[in-house]
Amino acid sequence: MKKKIEETGKSMNRETFSTSLTVFFATLGSAVGLGNIWKFPYMTGMNGGGAFILVYLLFVLLLGIPIMVSEFYLGRKTRSNVVGVFNKLKAHKFWKIIGYMGLLSSFLIMFFYSTVAGWVYAYVFRALKGDFRFLGDMGIEEARVASEGIFTDTLSGISPMLWQGFAILLVSVILIGGVKKGIERVTKTLMPILLLLIIISAVRALTLSGAGEGLSFLMKADFSKLKGSSILAAMGLAFFKLSLGMGTMVTYGSYFNKENNLMGTSFKVALSDVAVSMLAGLAIFPVVFTFQLAPEGGPGLLFQTIPLVFSMLPLGNILLIAFFVLTAIASTTAMLSMVEVPIAILTEELKLNRKKAVIIITSLMFMVGVVTTHPDALFGQVQVAGKNFFDLFDYTASNLLMPLGGLLITIFVAYFVKKESIQEELTNGGSIGSGKLVNFYRFVLRYITPLLLIIVFLNELGIISI
Ligand code: TRP
Repeated sequence: MKKKIEETGKSMNRETFSTSLTVFFATLGSAVGLGNIWKFPYMTGMNGGGAFILVYLLFVLLLGIPIMVSEFYLGRKTRSNVVGVFNKLKAHKFWKIIGYMGLLSSFLIMFFYSTVAGWVYAYVFRALKGDFRFLGDMGIEEARVASEGIFTDTLSGISPMLWQGFAILLVSVILIGGVKKGIERVTKTLMPILLLLIIISAVRALTLSGAGEGLSFLMKADFSKLKGSSILAAMGLAFFKLSLGMGTMVTYGSYFNKENNLMGTSFKVALSDVAVSMLAGLAIFPVVFTFQLAPEGGPGLLFQTIPLVFSMLPLGNILLIAFFVLTAIASTTAMLSMVEVPIAILTEELKLNRKKAVIIITSLMFMVGVVTTHPDALFGQVQVAGKNFFDLFDYTASNLLMPLGGLLITIFVAYFVKKESIQEELTNGGSIGSGKLVNFYRFVLRYITPLLLIIVFLNELGIISI
């Protein structure tokens, strides 16, 4: 079989995940994060509920899964970081821009993501201290105001910076452990706990009086509420949710064992991720309606609603701790994958030792993140292009860099890689899966995925209007 690309280099001594199950948990650990529990519910709330979810699902199927498969292909084929991939494939050096954009996105996302992860850890601590207990003795209106007060208080002063530092420190300690002893060990222990906790939370929320209203908000598709900007938001969310377009899945794919079914893993991860988002929605929206909060509440939604309701339930404080612990797990395993992208680049391209690379990268992430993304901090009030740094980083990475990276990855794999090489890698040399499915994937990747991406971009630039 003649290949357009060749494998070179010493791929044999790289670490890999041990089994397909640990591949699944590590990858799901990357996908499931604040995106499900924090971003998905509030974006759904702001964009009119079920209609937004439908559009989102369409993007997951037609963009998310094909791009995830492509990233896995690039990673496992070359056993390389997202810059090195293009050296190994002997591609034109232009394509390395995908790697550099990924590097930049990794930092931009970590700046604000670690901020929110810090709030989550602060809430775990507060819940452990019993700070929310008194809410249970108040009337709804009074409790709502008090809960908002706690959120504002959590965000002010120096403590959110310390919590952000704590969240980043934890990530760096795990990452110093490496792929097997760090990422794999943590994700295979914590992901099952997370899944259990989110099911318990959703079941509890569904027994509340506002459950029906919450459910119908989540499920009912009201297309009149779907704005033009909602379409782009849904696409940005699909990228963000599945950790795509910046080389995370290339990097994780490079650690997959050779028996892994790449297409199967993509489907399983994407579907499980949607399931976790829906469970998070089920846990949150009944609460929102029971306590008459505004579903379009924005980023604070999670932090203001969950303590409110759980404090009113029997054994509520335990549930509250459980919920914030699960959110802390989700955000931490997601950050592992975000930070692994630059680590793989530094250790392999610059031959830095792993520990050094982790320390350099996470210190930088902390130092810049802490001054740019705190409401109180130095630049918290500074606006660029009408956005504070928090929103600017999110917007630049989720809506611009990642879709652009995704488009380039799509074009590269669809048009610059030999069909036979894709067939071989996705069927593990013909031993699994069907060639027809691979052809179908390649068809979507060649004609549908890029078209959708371009339409959404032209819309964003105001050249066409959907
Ligand atoms: N997918 C994660 C979430 O939804 C976030 C995440 C992890 C991510 N790694 C990423 C987002 C890489 C973008 C790129 O919370």
